[in-house]
This record gives sequence, C-alpha cells and structure tokens, in this order.
Amino acid sequence: GKDGYRHYMEKELHEHPLVIGQTLQRMIDPATRKVVLPDLPFDLATVPRAVITACGSAFYAGMVGRYWLEEIARLPVDIDVASEMRYRDPPLTTGSLGLLISQSGETADTLAALRSLREKAIHILSVLNVEHSTMARESDVMLGTVAGPEISVASTKAFTAQLTVLACLTIATARARGTLDPLREEELVAALMDLPSRAAEVFNQGNAIRKMAAIVAEARDVLYLGRGSMFPVAMEGALKLKEISYIHAEAYAAGEMKHGPISLIDRTVPIVASVPSTPLFDKTLSNLQEAKARGGRLLVFTDTQGADRVSAIAEQIVVLPRVHDFVAPILQTIPVQMLAYEVAVLKGTDVDQPRNLAKSVTVE
Ligand code: F6R
Repeated sequence: GKDGYRHYMEKELHEHPLVIGQTLQRMIDPATRKVVLPDLPFDLATVPRAVITACGSAFYAGMVGRYWLEEIARLPVDIDVASEMRYRDPPLTTGSLGLLISQSGETADTLAALRSLREKAIHILSVLNVEHSTMARESDVMLGTVAGPEISVASTKAFTAQLTVLACLTIATARARGTLDPLREEELVAALMDLPSRAAEVFNQGNAIRKMAAIVAEARDVLYLGRGSMFPVAMEGALKLKEISYIHAEAYAAGEMKHGPISLIDRTVPIVASVPSTPLFDKTLSNLQEAKARGGRLLVFTDTQGADRVSAIAEQIVVLPRVHDFVAPILQTIPVQMLAYEVAVLKGTDVDQPRNLAKSVTVE
C-alpha cells in the first residue's frame, strides 16, 4: 500500500535516502570503504571508450554518468537515447564498453540498442532495477540498483539509485585507469556514504517546494536550467513536470539560453534553476541574472553556501544541504522531482497513472 502517503509517487520520493543507502551497501565494502564490483569479463583499465544508452529518465542518469566518467575516470564517452543509438551505427573499436541503463530491463528501444551493440562485439554492462529482466539475461554483467519495485509510472527512486551505481562505477573505473589517487578516492566514497542522511534533510524543505509549486502550477510553459552535471538534473525536472502535470517544460544548459530560448522569457514563463555551489555556480548565476533582467521569475534550488547570493535575485529558493560537488546531482534531483509532484497534486492530475504513459514501454 501507500503507507499513508497520498500517492505511490510520494511514497517512492520518500524512499530516496533508503534506496541510495541500500545501493551503496551493495557496492561499497564497509570494512575497506572501497567500491567492489562483481567479476567483469573485461578490463576497465583498457576499454577504449564507453557508449551509454537508455531512454527517458534513465538516459538523464546516463548523462550525469558521462560527466563523471569523463572527468574522474578520463574515459571517452558517447551517449545517445536508445531509439537513436540503435539506428546510428557509430564506428566503435571492438572491446568498447556498452553501458545500458534501465529500471525495468524491458524497454524495447534500450533492448534493441543492446542487441545492436552486441553485434559489434561491444561488452555489455547494464544498470538495472529488475534483476530477472530480459536485459539482465542478455548482458555480460549487471549492476543492480536496489530501489525495490517502483509503482508510480513516473520514475523517482530508481533514478537516484542509477546515479548511485554510476558514481560507484566511476570510482572503480578511475581506480582501474589510475586516474584517482587514494586520498581522492576516500573523499569521493565519503561523499557517497554521507548522502543518505543529507537526502533525508531534503524533506524539511517541503514548504518551500510547495510555494514554488504554486507558481509553477499557474504557468503554461516552464524553463529548467542547469550547467554541467546539473543540466541532466534540469532535464529530469522538466520531463517529470511534463509527465505528471501536463505543463510544457523545456530544459536548457544554462549557457545555451542566450542562443535562443532567452527570447521566450517574460513573467509568464517561470525559470526553475538547479544551482548548488559547485565550480559552475558563478557562471550559472550570471545566466540567471540575464534572465532576471528580462523579467524572468527565478525559482532556484541551491545549497546553504549558495543561498545568500541566490536569494538576492530569486523569487523563491529551496536551500539544500551542502554536499560534495561529486554527489550534488544526486541530491539536487530529489527536490526537482518533489516539485513536479506538488504541481501535479495542485493540478489534480492522476499522479501515479498519467495519461498516455505506461510503466514499461515495450513497443519501439
Ligand atoms: C520517466 C519515466 C520514463 C522511463 C523510460 C525508461 O519518469 O518513467 O522516461 O525512465 O521509459 O524506462 P526504463 O528505465 O524502464 O528503461
């Protein structure tokens, strides 16, 4: 049942801290505080490239994974949605790594992409929530997200569990490739282990999120902005809003706004921005100032360190705990999903069963 929550989605949102913790328990040895992967039939130290593919939210998790694998493990990454990847025929060196991400393990497009990569002699590593799924059977190796069943059609906890697995995979890959010194490895593991408690604190921001939701619920169009690993978080926020509240939303890399979408900005198009205090904070803030100067209403997710500078320009802010830059996209995902949920509640839509959508998309 829903355990007293209004919808399965609300219940599943509240499971974020638990699910992140369970997934970490699966991947990090508590005694050594090292990431431990199952035996791999290939060597992470020598794979020439990774190709990430998935659909919907799982694709956005993959985009965060790309930032991590490139920056921390120095592994070249290509990424595309599965419905495009399967027809793209990219030139790939034998022995490259295909990284598939899927909650259900049954998504037809992702499965077709998996099969087309297999034909090119690419190693298949899948990040899956359903361990006895078709994709699990057809992969060389599976990393499980320990999210438990997701009943709400809109994905929530599976997404943060996917990010958690990808973060651990990044650490293991970086160690194998010699791009991570032991001190930095300890620091990244500590940041992950700290996350379940920080994630639990996000729920203290319910009132601030509901105030934002009241503004978003009145809009016909909403822009979501983020830079770096916060860009896919913005995409996840926009997708979730579209899915369950039926409000049109678009996500942009914050720096791209001046190349077109800035012409949309006026008081009727709220701007939702994810801006934790990472090295990209100043750059993103100046993008927001440009938007404000054109009459944009800013609704901003930041952290305790960024709060003062953000509140000077924003109409509503949600202040999250300050966490390590590495794990900021995981933490920042929780409130953007909560915002979509609260907007849908205000709009009175069928939150758990949005129109035209199925939990598992088995048609191409
Ligand atoms: C978003 C959502 C969909 C799925 C997508 C992939 O809330 O639910 O976008 O993320 O259909 O599904 P899986 O992960 O099962 O392959």
